[in-house]
Amino acid sequence: MADKKPVAMEPRADGGDGRRFAPSTARNKDPIRDVFAAHGLTAGQVLEIASGTGEHGAFLTEAFPALHWTYSDIDAASRESQTAWREAAGHDRLSGPLYIDASAVSWGDAEGQAWDVIVSVNMVHISPFAATEGLLRGAGRLLKPGGHLFLYGPYARLGEIAPSNAAFSENLKSRDPSWGVRDLDRDLLPLASGAGLRLETVLEMPANNLSVIFRRL
Ligand SMILES: C[S@@+](CC[C@H](N)C(=O)[O-])C[C@H]1O[C@@H](n2cnc3c(N)ncnc32)[C@H](O)[C@@H]1O
Repeated sequence: MADKKPVAMEPRADGGDGRRFAPSTARNKDPIRDVFAAHGLTAGQVLEIASGTGEHGAFLTEAFPALHWTYSDIDAASRESQTAWREAAGHDRLSGPLYIDASAVSWGDAEGQAWDVIVSVNMVHISPFAATEGLLRGAGRLLKPGGHLFLYGPYARLGEIAPSNAAFSENLKSRDPSWGVRDLDRDLLPLASGAGLRLETVLEMPANNLSVIFRRL
């Protein structure tokens, strides 16, 4: 999938040292930091699936000194940007990037440890549904008991979808019919319960996005 078309939905600037910047991250990083702070996702080992530019890991490890963050992505250009962010960081709590295809049965080097938090921002709707299935399966397999899965992005709820998200979903499907905004209740919750994950928190975020936190039983 990542080889067929660009993965970024918006232009991504390059700061000259390989670090890329996505406009969406500039908009959502502060609200996401506030959710991490309010829900105690501030310490331990984090595995990020689909890290994109790598900005979230850099920003959140800067904000939370007890957070250790491992990048991953299916896309080589994204992993290069993550490497540049890791090298530019003034601390050693950024690791990776790992090559992980969320839909794969095994997540390679990430399989060797139990994680406190697994994070994925804005991947679920910009990938085939198999990536979401694999994401929830992987979280169930690799999170510590009591660990958290944090998702951020646009979702429908029980068939209800904000007009802006419906239009976005149609735009995504015109780029790739396997993409599209998913229904949190109908598409994700059955997978989560099958993976041993309990829905803990759903928070409304700017621009009709949601923060969704699951807890590993
Ligand atoms: C819209 S970007 C979001 C990136 C980043 N999380 C952010 O919020 O800026 C979607 C990301 O999903 C990644 N991706 C798509 N399909 C994937 C898959 N099957 N496994 C892992 N990553 C995937 C893409 O390479 C891309 O980096």
